[in-house]
Amino acid sequence: MHLLPTVLSALWLVSAANAAEPTPLEKRAQCASTLSIAQGLAQELQNKYFSASSGMYNGGSLWTDANAMEDLHNLMLATGTNEFSAVADESWIGRNALQSSDTGFWNGIVNGAIDDAAWIVLALWKIADYKINRGLNATPYLNSALTVYNIVAAQWDPSTCGGGVWWSTAHTYKNAITNQLFLLTSAVGAINFPNQAPFLANALKSWAWMEGSGMRNSQGLWNDGLTDACTNNGQTTWTYNQGVIASGLGALYAVTGNSSLLTQAEITLDATINLLTTNDILRESCDDAASGGPVCNQDQQIFKGLWMKHLQYYLDRANDASRVAKYAPFIGSQSSAVFHFGTGAGDDVGSVWYAPNAGGSIFTPKTSTSGLEAQVCAAKYGPC
Ligand SMILES: *[C@@H]1O[C@H](CO)[C@@H](O)[C@H](O)[C@H]1NC(C)=O
Repeated sequence: MHLLPTVLSALWLVSAANAAEPTPLEKRAQCASTLSIAQGLAQELQNKYFSASSGMYNGGSLWTDANAMEDLHNLMLATGTNEFSAVADESWIGRNALQSSDTGFWNGIVNGAIDDAAWIVLALWKIADYKINRGLNATPYLNSALTVYNIVAAQWDPSTCGGGVWWSTAHTYKNAITNQLFLLTSAVGAINFPNQAPFLANALKSWAWMEGSGMRNSQGLWNDGLTDACTNNGQTTWTYNQGVIASGLGALYAVTGNSSLLTQAEITLDATINLLTTNDILRESCDDAASGGPVCNQDQQIFKGLWMKHLQYYLDRANDASRVAKYAPFIGSQSSAVFHFGTGAGDDVGSVWYAPNAGGSIFTPKTSTSGLEAQVCAAKYGPC
């Protein structure tokens, strides 16, 4: 039984000339008790919010659904179990991947949202990783991922602000998240598909442009994006921006060996820990444990979990035990806060992690997914 998946994935490797070997840290033993907590959260996410008939989460949205798909597969890769193996093909994103990898078809799904497109690429690749690992056919997922990646890459435009991809096909905004995701997907593409241009070239040009873009402020945090005059617009420093840049830089380090990229990543990770927390726990600017205060919108409800997931990916790519030791205590604190403060009835996780819920924590598929991401990260890199 052990040989079969290996043989199949070896055959697949020959046929598609691809698939990354996990780095040593990606194979590292994980904390069983934290994984068990994560499995409980994932089960609740599916039971409470997932509709097998539509393939979507009730109260979800395309890009956060994509993240939930990625997370279920990240979890199964961690546990070695297969309890969510039917979800990919059942999901709306998966059904589309099975239906077509045509560019026009996927343009219709992406509907002009280039950041959404890049999140979909990450989900399709993670599903493919899982399927390859289990000896299943991943080809439709890989083909669709490449199509969607190319949709993102086509939005690179040097004629405004000297480069960067547009946030949407309306071409009104160059922002941090879309460009951070372009760096990340390009660098991961360069790792997974080493002989396929233009992944590495795109990753290098993306970082070169972002490094000079001014979107990272003097505190080390990335603001939301650029003004029409191509200067930092001073808008909110969301947590997810501070995580996705790190995983992009970690992946670029993994392909180039340039360790300055890790230094750059940790400027921002450390600034997050210093500046975007209350009582050492991540706090989005819209988080309020009490009722009647600010309320995170549908997108913002998932941001902290994305910071955690991309810290996990950063540590995978940095592949350095001393860096794991540096971040493990903070990761453990987040795991504990999600467990003690964030988790409500029936294993659903709310939006507020930094303090016990006093009526302000919101419970949605996005917040549930965010909590799951924190626990999956902690199972790998937190204390046990
Ligand atoms: C390594 O990364 C740093 C940080 O971004 C950059 O400034 C430098 O040019 C890179 N070095 C090479 C040889 O590419």
